[in-house]
Amino acid sequence: MRNKIVAGNWKMNLDYQQGVSLFSEIVNMAKDEVMGHQQVVVCSPFIHLHSIAQLAKGASQVAVGAQNIYFEEAGAYTGEISAAQVKSTGAAYVILGHSERRAYFGEDDYVLGKKVDAALKHELIPIFCIGETREERESDRYFEVIGEQLKKGIFHLSNDSFQQVVLAYEPVWAIGTGLTASPEQAQEVHAFIRNAVAEQYTEDLAERTTILYGGSCNPKNAPDLFSQPDIDGGLIGGASLKSRDFIDIVKVFN
Ligand code: G3P
Repeated sequence: MRNKIVAGNWKMNLDYQQGVSLFSEIVNMAKDEVMGHQQVVVCSPFIHLHSIAQLAKGASQVAVGAQNIYFEEAGAYTGEISAAQVKSTGAAYVILGHSERRAYFGEDDYVLGKKVDAALKHELIPIFCIGETREERESDRYFEVIGEQLKKGIFHLSNDSFQQVVLAYEPVWAIGTGLTASPEQAQEVHAFIRNAVAEQYTEDLAERTTILYGGSCNPKNAPDLFSQPDIDGGLIGGASLKSRDFIDIVKVFN
């Protein structure tokens, strides 16, 4: 049985108080309404992490994560945040390889591989994002692109290290667009990803790997997406900024 995870990615939204208030709503709703073994994760901007990690202690099925780290241990890297610093806030997860960081901040596979190593060294669970652009989808190169992202970004890990990793398929053309991948489109890629893990590592490890879907996931389409055999939950952007919508997505696994 694979871990089912619904992770919210708040991106660059909410001031300090707004974030703490939203997280408090999510924790209270989760305590009352989440009945299954699904893991709820909220990946907030750095400014919220310590405070919401304290609040999360009141709800066993809720954890917090960051949206980025730098890969150096410490030092003269003005403005950056290290894995150790994120871990010290009480965060348990970190999103890495998000298409927005690849596109806007030039994060390439080499840098992402080092960030994954730094996260694992400090016992942060990487939520490693992969996904194709609209052009790569329309030119039918999406399997090739995703295969390369896996190979160059995460497949350097040993079998033991890879067991800590959560993968997230996020078709770039579905992020923030309201244009969700169909359950069939998403399942096709998730099955490809799981097979790639089996070929790189073992069938057993592939079967145990949690693969999330991200891209305009909402309470209406989540049930069909999450019912697919190789979709183990979601990485939720816009809908995670509304506690009711986010918890309704989480409850699909009740
Ligand atoms: O990381 C999740 C995010 O990229 C998806 O965003 O707003 O399409 O759910 P959204």
